[in-house]
Amino acid sequence: MKQYITPNPWSVIEEGFHPEENEITESLMSLGNGRMGQRGNFEEKYSGKTLLGNYVAGVYFPDKTRVGWWKNGYPDYFAKVINACNWIGIDVEIDGQILDLHTCQIEEFYRELDMKRGVLSRHCTAITPQGQRVRIESERFCSMVDDESGAIKYSVKALNFDGHITLTPYLDGTIRNRDANYDETFWQEISKETSFAEGILTLETKPNPYGVEQFEVTTGMRFDIKKNGKKLDFQSHPVKNEKYVAGKVVTEISEGDELTLFKYAVNLSSANYKREELTEKAKNYLDRITKKGYSSLLSEHELAWADKWERNDIEIVGDMEAQQGIRFNIFHLQQTYTGEDESLNIGPKGFTGEKYGGVTYWDTEAYCIPFYLATSGKHVARNLLIYRYKHLAKAIENAGKLGFSQGAALYPMVTMNGEESHNEWEITFEEIHRNGAIAFAIYDYINYTGDKVYLAEYGLEVLIAISRFWKQRVNWSAQKEKFVMLGVTGPNEYENNVNNNWYTNYLAVWCLKYTLSAIEYVRSQEKADAIFAKVEFDQEAETKDWQEIIDKMYFPYDPEREVFLQQDGFLDKELKTVDQISEHRPINQKWSWDRILRSCFIKQADVLQGLYLFEDHFDQGTLRRNFDFYEPMTVHESSLSPCVHSILASSLGKKEKAYEMYVRTARLDLDDYNNDTEDGLHITSMAGTWMSVVKGFAGQRVRDGVLVLNPYIPEGWDAYSFRIGFRGITMRIEVTRQAVIIENPTTESVEVQVWGKQYSVLGEVRHELKGAAAE
Ligand code: BGC
Repeated sequence: MKQYITPNPWSVIEEGFHPEENEITESLMSLGNGRMGQRGNFEEKYSGKTLLGNYVAGVYFPDKTRVGWWKNGYPDYFAKVINACNWIGIDVEIDGQILDLHTCQIEEFYRELDMKRGVLSRHCTAITPQGQRVRIESERFCSMVDDESGAIKYSVKALNFDGHITLTPYLDGTIRNRDANYDETFWQEISKETSFAEGILTLETKPNPYGVEQFEVTTGMRFDIKKNGKKLDFQSHPVKNEKYVAGKVVTEISEGDELTLFKYAVNLSSANYKREELTEKAKNYLDRITKKGYSSLLSEHELAWADKWERNDIEIVGDMEAQQGIRFNIFHLQQTYTGEDESLNIGPKGFTGEKYGGVTYWDTEAYCIPFYLATSGKHVARNLLIYRYKHLAKAIENAGKLGFSQGAALYPMVTMNGEESHNEWEITFEEIHRNGAIAFAIYDYINYTGDKVYLAEYGLEVLIAISRFWKQRVNWSAQKEKFVMLGVTGPNEYENNVNNNWYTNYLAVWCLKYTLSAIEYVRSQEKADAIFAKVEFDQEAETKDWQEIIDKMYFPYDPEREVFLQQDGFLDKELKTVDQISEHRPINQKWSWDRILRSCFIKQADVLQGLYLFEDHFDQGTLRRNFDFYEPMTVHESSLSPCVHSILASSLGKKEKAYEMYVRTARLDLDDYNNDTEDGLHITSMAGTWMSVVKGFAGQRVRDGVLVLNPYIPEGWDAYSFRIGFRGITMRIEVTRQAVIIENPTTESVEVQVWGKQYSVLGEVRHELKGAAAE
């Protein structure tokens, strides 16, 4: 654990430079606006530890797969959101020597990500090897309003010298991905232009043999310079190199002078514009934003963030670190995905690093959708569902490659364009529970929003295709006289190729049941016949098969302990608890894979993932027994794990456990808990942190169209409040030790149940807390 970030309710602050942790800080201080994003790199050259990262949403490259032993069915490539043109770069030379903080003596240093405003800033006083004292101040943002642009204000002040300062703002496409499988570069140049204080660079992703779309991205910049606050009359000398353009400005300065450079940049991609129009559109875009000017761009951006916080904020009274942690999570989720574009999704690292390739996992459906549903309006979650709807044909194709037929769909484990990108057989072919998460998200969305129309419009086609997959994936066991599911990997990836993973079997049966009920509903709608014809649905035969599986599925169970078994044979393992192996943790770094697989230790919620999703199907005793059996064997080595345990613990009244698990998720990255923040942030699990508060501590659910709350306060907090949108109304909910206060500022009432008592909330409603909830 590292604790060098200063606690602050609204900011992530590094006081004094920590060069050894620089890649961690760069991850923490990443900026984004849904369309583009970047790590918290310095603008000027830095030769110390750094991972340069600029990303354009949806722009990826199919990097040739690298595996030891090829298995039929593996995809040929791994899609990666690639490191794109560096648009923040500004080289600074003082009397011909490049300024590089790595070689300077640093007198003072301060870097801050202001989450309230979405602004990254830094100031620093440094002494160059030549003895010049300089002060650098920088500020930048990725505009939430003009979301294909960003702007930088960068100042250099001569503190003890007279001389020449050269400022060279540039666009650099000679970047690489650190995670390239064969150390190749992914971009080639299409064109470049420079004119006074302007540069335009168009790059294209290199050709590939897989028929995957090549993207063109045009990055444009314009700049302006002030000296001591007044506009400078300057010459900009164009520089053009391979995949690089710059404008070089040489200025004379005297001690005490300050130069301030304003750099505006845009990133336009062929995913959104015609290729032949990219350059012109980039210039128009630059015209528009430079006309607004830095201050107006910034204030519009700040207003957009203020509006987001109005709908998203969680306030925690009495625990500054928890406050910083939760806002950090909300901030990054909101800047990673804004929900305006149904072709985009949420990569596990967002715009903060390369790991996991920026591609889509089941994390979106299982973790992120509940967050966006409650904080961002219905269309945002709906667009995430439509993303999968649009990939349905590919999911059917993907299942076909594995031998399934007749419209059965297996959604990929990881994807950019709907095609599978993952290549570890035990996950790619076997971690099929992801299909269930996609079906569950449809249910979750409809349950939350009441938008049943979605079923007929899009949902049912997906559900039928997924149900067809389960039908073909199970087989009849003559010995058990039950349907079984062999050779699967559950969410707990520390078990592979197991038979009858309880979670997967349960989810499959639930999908079949839900699809049957969806068919019933859609049958009453006009569109039903058209959908059935489109998917060639043999209603009688197919629904009969599904019902048979529902009736006769096998679920491993231990009658002695009265718990569900994670898989067949689980009790043959030597059952130990995590506290017996504390010096061996994390086991994924200290043990061989073979040892992990044979052990009972669990990477992340598995049976408990099922109990979390379907808690209303089970009584408290069942939930408790399973929790008490599995949680002590769980090492939580996936960031997706603690939040599920925290929520379950909250609903079981295990307050201490709930808080312990919450703390592990909330500051996972801020404190570099897993020693991997330098690779990027755990964006998707951040949604789990939010859920630990709202679904966990506040016990929020939606039952029969009513918002349900069963709130309590974790011990170290005095009070907390959160905003939640439900059926078009944003409410503020405050929980103190005495009462729950719900504010609905609109003119329409909303039904809310608090600890079993139902209110029609209009204006303010106060529910006094009693008993355990008030403790
Ligand atoms: C987890 C998966 C998850 C992936 C991306 C893995 O470590 O086991 O469940 O989908 O990370 O977050």
